[in-house]
Amino acid sequence: MVVLTPANADNWRAIARVRAAAGQREWVADSTYYLCLSAYGDLWRSYAVEADGATVGHVMWAVDPDDGSHWIGGLVIDSEHQRRGLGRATVQALLDLWEREEPSLSGTPYREAALSVSPDNQAAIGLYRSLGFVETGEMEDDEIVLRRPRA
Ligand SMILES: CC(C)(COP(=O)(O)OP(=O)(O)OC[C@H]1O[C@@H](n2cnc3c(N)ncnc32)[C@H](O)[C@@H]1OP(=O)(O)O)[C@@H](O)C(=O)NCCC(=O)NCCS
Repeated sequence: MVVLTPANADNWRAIARVRAAAGQREWVADSTYYLCLSAYGDLWRSYAVEADGATVGHVMWAVDPDDGSHWIGGLVIDSEHQRRGLGRATVQALLDLWEREEPSLSGTPYREAALSVSPDNQAAIGLYRSLGFVETGEMEDDEIVLRRPRA
């Protein structure tokens, strides 16, 4: 349903156009910020979320150097494309990618997925819970942490 393509010279402009809806922007940064974080930092990897040949979202991932967990970040489905199952398909595609490819991609075996989310962001929390993520009681800045052991 979705294809994840690493950010590259061909797709970064389309990723930069991905926008959350107005009422959602307190929960995520601009996709340009995520692209820069991935390009200039040494942790995150940005991907275009593609469906039916169009770029419909952004997602990035990183391995926590302390505990080896695989983190999802910067998940945004463009406001024009939400509520069509693309957010769920994106998270599932990342879990599948790690199952299939790790440890070749990062050098770290895939054992556990993790993410943080604003406690107000009920739509995202509903999505993550439906995929088996569970709150742990940890906080990451002002966000709650959810984890999901490898199936
Ligand atoms: C959260 C987000 C990625 C979901 O993407 P999406 O493609 O709209 O989600 P899906 O269509 O795959 O829906 C999956 C589940 O998410 C939840 N959900 C998504 N949008 C929702 C909404 N507006 N209200 C309530 N629940 C919602 C539901 O549980 C839904 O399952 P259901 O359709 O069986 O009810 C999208 O709303 C988004 O980009 N939001 C802004 C950025 C953001 O908050 N990112 C998360 C940061 S942690």
